[in-house]
Parts: sequence; C-alpha cells; structure tokens
Amino acid sequence: MSLRPARKATVVAPANIAFVKYWGAHDLEEVRPVNRSISMTLREAVTRTTVDPHAADVETDELEIVGDDGQLRRAQGLFESRALAHVRRVRDEIGYEAPVRIATHNSFPTGAGIASSASGFTALTLAIRAACGAPEGGADVLSRQVRRSGSGSAARSVLGGYVEWPSDSEDSDPAAAAFAPASHWDLIDLIAIVTSETKSVTSRDGHRRAATSPHFARRLELLDRRLGIVQKAIVDRDLAALGPVLEEEAIELHLVAMSSQPPIFYWEPATLAVLSAVRQLRDEGVPVWATMDAGPNVHMICEPEAETAVAERVGALAGVVRLLHDRVGMGPMEVEDHLF
Ligand code: DP6
Repeated sequence: MSLRPARKATVVAPANIAFVKYWGAHDLEEVRPVNRSISMTLREAVTRTTVDPHAADVETDELEIVGDDGQLRRAQGLFESRALAHVRRVRDEIGYEAPVRIATHNSFPTGAGIASSASGFTALTLAIRAACGAPEGGADVLSRQVRRSGSGSAARSVLGGYVEWPSDSEDSDPAAAAFAPASHWDLIDLIAIVTSETKSVTSRDGHRRAATSPHFARRLELLDRRLGIVQKAIVDRDLAALGPVLEEEAIELHLVAMSSQPPIFYWEPATLAVLSAVRQLRDEGVPVWATMDAGPNVHMICEPEAETAVAERVGALAGVVRLLHDRVGMGPMEVEDHLF
C-alpha cells in the first residue's frame, strides 16, 4: 500500500444516538455485536482532532486534550492508554511508522455525561489516516478500523444521517452503512443532562453482563420486528411509528442492565422526572419520545416544530442540569482549523 505525503490534518467527527441499541457482544476485543443496531448521527456533539506527523521533537506518540479553558494538557490514565493503543494499531494497519503528535477537543462540556468515545475514536482514526497519507478508504473500511478501537458505537459515527450496523451473525467483520442521508429527515435530539458524573459501570462491562439477564434472550427475539419498524419509520419519516418503538427499546436496554448479574442501575431520580415530562407532553399533543444510552441522561427525539415546547418544559425541571440542542448531522469531515 503506497502512502501519500504526510501532513498536519484535522477531522471533526460526530457522536450518534442509537434508536435500536448495541447491547451485548460475542467478542469484545474484535467488537462483534450480538444484535444489529440503528442510529442517528448528531451534528453539534463533535470531537475535533488534529494529528501532526511532522513534529520533529516528538519521539513517541503524544496525546493532548484541549480543556474547557482552551489550554492543552497531556491526556492521562485509561483514556490515554486506550487512545494511544488505537493510534499504534491504525499506524500499523496503514504502514506508517513514525510517531505523531495529537490534540483533541470535544464540543460538548467535559463530564457532561455525554459519551465521547464514538466521536473521539472516529475523529482520531480519520485524522491519523489523513495525516499519515493513508489511501482514501470506503465507509466500510473506515467503520471496521474505527470499530477496532473497542467502541462499537463509533463504528456508526463514520457516516452521516441514519445508519445501521449489522450483527456479528449477519457480517463476520461488521461495518456500518447509511440507509438515509441527514437531508432525508430533520430530527431533533434534545439532551437533558441530569448529572455530570462519569458513569459507574462502563458500556463494556454492560455488554459483558448483558447475557446474564433473563430478559436478554427475549429482547433478541423481539428485535427483528423492532428493527424493521424503526427502519421503515425513518424511511417514511413517520415519527408516530418510530417514537413508541425507540422508547420501548431504551427502557428494555435498562431492564436488561438492571437485571444483569451484578445489576447495573444507570438512572437517577431526574431521569424518571424527564421521562414523566415527556409522557405528559405527549398527552398534551406534543409529539416527542425519549431514549437513553448507558447513563442517566435522556435524549428527547422530536421534529423541529416541537423543540421549543419540549425545551421549555424539560429545561424547567429541578433535576435537569442543562439541555443540549442537537439534530441529525452529516458525518465526519476534514477541516483546516487545526488545534495547534
Ligand atoms: C448503550 O461499547 O459503543 O450506547 O464505547 O462507551 O460508547 P462506548 O460504548 P459502546 O456501547 C454503546 C452502548 C449504547 C448503545 C449504542 O450506542 O448502540
């Protein structure tokens, strides 16, 4: 594989919200999901990552984080070791040997309880590829390479719009694919942050424990029908068909988590308050439905006409620390605005 010339490169990559969740893996090292998942790529919740292969003074890969104060700080702990292991893996896969300097920044507040691994590993992978002169890869190549970071949800963030990621039994090296672009349907995701604390049990541990729940096998039986409804509802732009199923799906993820061995409780009291406000809004005729990932924060999915009513009601709840306004987005892109 011949590489193009190395250069400084910056990529902005988005997070995504799953409507049908990836929960449970046959192989966590290779990230082989038990079930197919479907997500919407977001627009505002993004990671910007700059990779510079030319920094002459760099002898090993170096990773810095741009903090909320704009200052660059050396990354630490598990985050640093996991990210640098992925940097080496991507460099090895594309055949680029020299170390690189990396800086990364999340658009969403650090510790807001918003998962950064999907946007983070996507931006990191694509920025290394661009900086180290890797040949243009198709979305399937990129999705597989991002997936090997260990973050399955990241496999979906290489694409914009509405994305599906097959199960391990459908594709032995599963790569995500988009089935509708962002322009197909302008859906809003209002994210109610109810705590800024990092979650106590990682998604990785959740995947590991999922099959110990008596509800896991039943969930798999129900999923085929649910996946079909969600995909058709997106193709038809039919929120009345999508909403109930995405809410049912989120509750079931938490039912499985709460009944795993040992059990995992992600919800806070304010999670229930937001879910209750969402039901009340629906009773009053506002079409909005809720979903949650492996954490206490609630993503409220609606069309643009309902956004203000939802934000006013939920933003006023005592336990809601802040509201993030997001919507469907177009996927990662390379930009000229470098972090250093
Ligand atoms: C509940 O293993 O992708 O968000 O790497 O921490 O983002 P992170 O987790 P990952 O599991 C994602 C679990 C989920 C559902 C989903 O996004 O499909």
